[in-house]
Amino acid sequence: MPKPIYILNGPNLNLLGLRQPEIYGKQTLDDVAEACAGLAEDLGLTIRFHQSNHEGAVIDWIHQARNEGAGIIINPGAFTHTSVAILDALNAFDAPVLEVHISNVHKREAFRHHSYVSLRAEGVIAGFGTEGYLLALRRMKTLVGA
Ligand code: DQA
Repeated sequence: MPKPIYILNGPNLNLLGLRQPEIYGKQTLDDVAEACAGLAEDLGLTIRFHQSNHEGAVIDWIHQARNEGAGIIINPGAFTHTSVAILDALNAFDAPVLEVHISNVHKREAFRHHSYVSLRAEGVIAGFGTEGYLLALRRMKTLVGA
């Protein structure tokens, strides 16, 4: 069994489709999870899709991926801009990491322009809406070569 790709989502992303739809769109996180599962199947990948509002839970999944994951796609939400702890956890993970933002963070407030996670990520996708997760999954397929 090939190892799964972890798709991790940080705080407030459980409200996708409800919160600020003009910025984040109308798809729910369940819609995103379903679309990712469908594409993963086409690509011959398996995924584990998670969301938490708690930094420690995100870190625990990253630790779990050290043994069980082939790669990590992460939208850390606001932890992107604050969390050295998530960066440290990703630095302890030896396979590809891709960072996704639904919105174009560079077009927004200055505090969203800096990402700790970008210091580790092989690539960053921002501003492609929820489609960014699917683009990241396609890139992950290339990177893991499964
Ligand atoms: C986000 C951008 C972050 O700045 C914000 O805090 C989020 C979502 C995005 O997907 O565009 O919660 O990561």
